[in-house]
Amino acid sequence: MIFQKQKKATALDLQQYTVKMDISNHQPMLKQIEMLNLTKQDLQYLKAFKPFVEGNINHIVDRFYDMIVTEQSLVDIINRHSSVEKLKVTLRRHIVEMFNGNIDEDFYKRRVNIAKVHVHIGLRTQWYICAFQDLCISFTDLVEKHVAHPMDQFNTIRAISKISNFEQQLVLE
Ligand code: HEM
Repeated sequence: MIFQKQKKATALDLQQYTVKMDISNHQPMLKQIEMLNLTKQDLQYLKAFKPFVEGNINHIVDRFYDMIVTEQSLVDIINRHSSVEKLKVTLRRHIVEMFNGNIDEDFYKRRVNIAKVHVHIGLRTQWYICAFQDLCISFTDLVEKHVAHPMDQFNTIRAISKISNFEQQLVLE
């Protein structure tokens, strides 16, 4: 037999995922979200995907720093201000939080703080964007592996792409 009959995947029930988009006081952020068409449904897809991110967080972060340490200027920055082991802890926490399904004032403030920290250490924009792409590749690999229904796969990837772009807008502002 050439074609094997595949088990039919069932689509996710998003109703069970409670999310929060509380940015009414923040006009610029509101516009960015509107232009990205980042919706509550996107946040629900992110939240539904969170267990797979948490379950693979060590792999994601190890892969990230294996890539970072291939660039000597980044190693020098890290050793001057921190250590890979310390940064792995912060990055793990940060990545999991991206999938909480909450966008509010705290979300914004934490990104402003990351921006300040990165400006302080002299991290160039090109390396930040490059590093973020590595995370996106890890997330996409996980979607391919763990999200069964084709519609959910595409919608999860869309949601990840939107939240990643939003985050980069805030941090690079
Ligand atoms: C700090 C995230 C890229 C070096 C941080 C913090 C977070 C973070 C959450 C903690 C901020 C705080 O103290 O509140 C990210 C994300 C990145 C990224 C999401 C891209 C996907 C990089 C790269 C480097 C780097 C490429 C390479 C040098 C550092 C250093 C600190 C830091 C050295 C600590 C500075 C200090 O404690 O004085 N980053 N980072 N980051 N990041 Fe990044």
